[in-house]
Amino acid sequence: MRVSWGLLAFPAAVSAIENGINGWLRYAPLSNDQRPPNLRLPGAIMALSTNKTSPVYTAGQELQAGIKSILNQTLPLYHELDEWLGSTILVATTGQFHGVEPAATLADDGYLLRVRPGNVVIMGQTERGALYGAFDYLSRIAQGRFSDADLIANPDAPIRWVNQWDNMDGSIERGYAGASIFFRNNTIPEDLNRVSQYARLLASIGINGIVVNNVNANANLLTDANIDGLGRIADAMRPYGVQIGISLNFASPQTLGGLSTFDPLDQSVISWWVDKTNRIYRRIPDMAGYLVKANSEGQAGPLTYNRTLADGANLFAKAVQPHGGIVMFRAFVYDNHIDPADLKADRAKHAVEFFKGLDGQFLDNVVVQIKYGPIDFQVREPASPLFANIPQTNTAIELQITQEYLGQQSHLVYIAPLWKTILDFDLRADDQPSLVRDVVAGRRFSNKRGGYAGVVNVGTNTTWLGSHLAMSNLYAYGRLAWDPNQDPQALLEDWTRLTFGSDPLVLGVVTEIYMASWPAYENYTGNLGIQTLTDILYTHYGPNPASQDNNGWGQWTRVDHDGIGMDRTVSTGTGFSGQCHAEVAEKFESIETTPDDLLLWFHHVNYTHVLKSGKPVIQHFYDAHYAGAETAQTFPITWESLRNKIDTERFNDVLFRLRYQAGHSIVWRDSICQFYYNLSGIPDGTGRVGRHEYRIEAETMALKNYKLTEVNPVETASNLTAVVLVSNHTSGEATTKLNFDSGKYDVAINYFDLIGGKAHYKAFLNGKLLLEWAGDLEDKLGHTFSTKLDGHSATRVTIRDVQIQKGDVLKITGVAEGNELAPLDCIAVLPQGVID
Ligand code: GCU
Repeated sequence: MRVSWGLLAFPAAVSAIENGINGWLRYAPLSNDQRPPNLRLPGAIMALSTNKTSPVYTAGQELQAGIKSILNQTLPLYHELDEWLGSTILVATTGQFHGVEPAATLADDGYLLRVRPGNVVIMGQTERGALYGAFDYLSRIAQGRFSDADLIANPDAPIRWVNQWDNMDGSIERGYAGASIFFRNNTIPEDLNRVSQYARLLASIGINGIVVNNVNANANLLTDANIDGLGRIADAMRPYGVQIGISLNFASPQTLGGLSTFDPLDQSVISWWVDKTNRIYRRIPDMAGYLVKANSEGQAGPLTYNRTLADGANLFAKAVQPHGGIVMFRAFVYDNHIDPADLKADRAKHAVEFFKGLDGQFLDNVVVQIKYGPIDFQVREPASPLFANIPQTNTAIELQITQEYLGQQSHLVYIAPLWKTILDFDLRADDQPSLVRDVVAGRRFSNKRGGYAGVVNVGTNTTWLGSHLAMSNLYAYGRLAWDPNQDPQALLEDWTRLTFGSDPLVLGVVTEIYMASWPAYENYTGNLGIQTLTDILYTHYGPNPASQDNNGWGQWTRVDHDGIGMDRTVSTGTGFSGQCHAEVAEKFESIETTPDDLLLWFHHVNYTHVLKSGKPVIQHFYDAHYAGAETAQTFPITWESLRNKIDTERFNDVLFRLRYQAGHSIVWRDSICQFYYNLSGIPDGTGRVGRHEYRIEAETMALKNYKLTEVNPVETASNLTAVVLVSNHTSGEATTKLNFDSGKYDVAINYFDLIGGKAHYKAFLNGKLLLEWAGDLEDKLGHTFSTKLDGHSATRVTIRDVQIQKGDVLKITGVAEGNELAPLDCIAVLPQGVID
């Protein structure tokens, strides 16, 4: 008899310190009042596999560890039927029980979960399906849901992958959580423990595949040594049923293989790829397949040789076909050197222009991977019309969990509601219901394959994504990819119970903040369908509306003194709306029927154009930015009501970030409002823009060793100016007398926090220290902002509840460090409840 009690390679079920490493799989002990008095757990776990790399085996381990941790009960674990005759939690595949269970209704990876007092059956259609069922059961227990269950859960789509944009040097493109867990110094590290832990998290939300390297791929990944390293990654993930795939560099036969060409129809190139592919499958027989970014943003591709994108995709499809692999071929193909003077030019049209004519030419193990909107993961975009333009082609939707354009994990944005608006969008192909989610599931056009690809970019940070809060997005992504009918708020509630516990107050606060976060972010960054107003030429983080226009990237807003928005209509614009099917095209063609939230995506209008809401566009801009920033101010305050309700580590970490976000939202608000005010000359009807009665500009303070400096873009500084120390070996002071009525105030200090130094600041009131801090947000928030004074580095710290007498003296001292000259922008002395 074999009874195993050990925990194999599992991380500690509940880490003593809540550093986030277990994500939503913390298995926190339930309090007595959360356990039903008559709880009757089965006497043992029977996971019917003796193969330690089998997800069924893993399921047994996970159940044993989870139940021990949540309920403090240790159930023996068996792997063969004759080892135990009592009541069990049975984990098996349907293949092991022919004729007994309703296997017919289970799809690939689906599972049956039957929970009865003293008896639980978890049956997967595949081994990994059984593991999914075990995670579902554990999630119920962890949330205190002990009721009987009898359900069959099938995934909506077969492809539920994540993509990592990890580079071989260990950096991660658009990653905000430290270095890669997959690569270091151009090789694959020996210790892959974090890789196994990641696979565990992914499996628990139904993810079955991962592409481990950046779409901007390095050909050196395909050396023999690295193929072996990839094999070790696959070995680490296999017990969780997560298959690995890799991104390819199209030019590899030339750059790595030394061939004179990478023409996809050249016989030597074909042989090179077949040989490489065979080698990879020898080491990783269950490799999921390839991901290809070709002829996009400088990447090589078939167009170099006047071959079609289908020729390129099919080259790989043929190579992986004998091994059962698939090719995810990205539709993110566009020309980034288009002429802004050409009023018909439109990057948003490129995907359909490149792919529509190729429909029917892709082999059936090719899946075209399409970003949700026609541009690039913006805060608001229409669904990509490509989903409905290639009915004979398998498609998958690409979503971004890493918050590249959505605050880079330093702003809380719960993205699931955004994804849901896209997944539920009806493309009306042939005037028939054609929801995006039905297209990518393969249902709408009867395609065999399809599904989801989510760009995640976890790193070595113990929180995985760099922020505890951001993990909700990964959780919701997996759950939506499994079943896109689910409600984002319900998913959030599950995540919250698993992450922070079931206290109704915690649940209420998290729900309130999260559900307000996407609308707030949209309000204080870019609204009315203007896509993004972030700096697209630098780090995609802070405000820089001017960066959108007059360059070849095609993320134009077509802004001028009179109006704003891209005219994408057929009648007078770029014709993009005509790529949508008739009913949708008609709706977007007319200003009257275009919803306000996409107005500027489809139309160029004057600032005075009156919206459906009754407001002129410019006033909406002002009001929305003020409203968004105001909402963000409530986040840290609301969160503070959870003090002592959750552990201090996470409470403080989250509080710090929400305070930072509140400050940066003011930077956003003021920059955008100032920019459009400067351009339009139309004042804010309520007089807020440009008027800050509680601010004292640093340049008006008595300065010692400080000098005026330029900020670019200029509107990211209050009153368009900031001050810096005269050199990087000095310290200085900015002093002012406070002529406000005596009372209690919040004192906010706007400054800039750059990469390349950690200046030191102190704020004094009448010589008494109020606060001391360093320009070290790059450490605290875990990502690099900017080397310059701009909208990325602009930030604010607030000192709450300061008792001030009229005539008090406020002094800020700065000490330069490295290239950071202790920049200061302004101070705001805020009466209680005032936001300025
Ligand atoms: C965005 C992103 C790039 C990425 C590209 C892609 O443009 O900024 O970093 O490589 O998308 O998806 O290929």
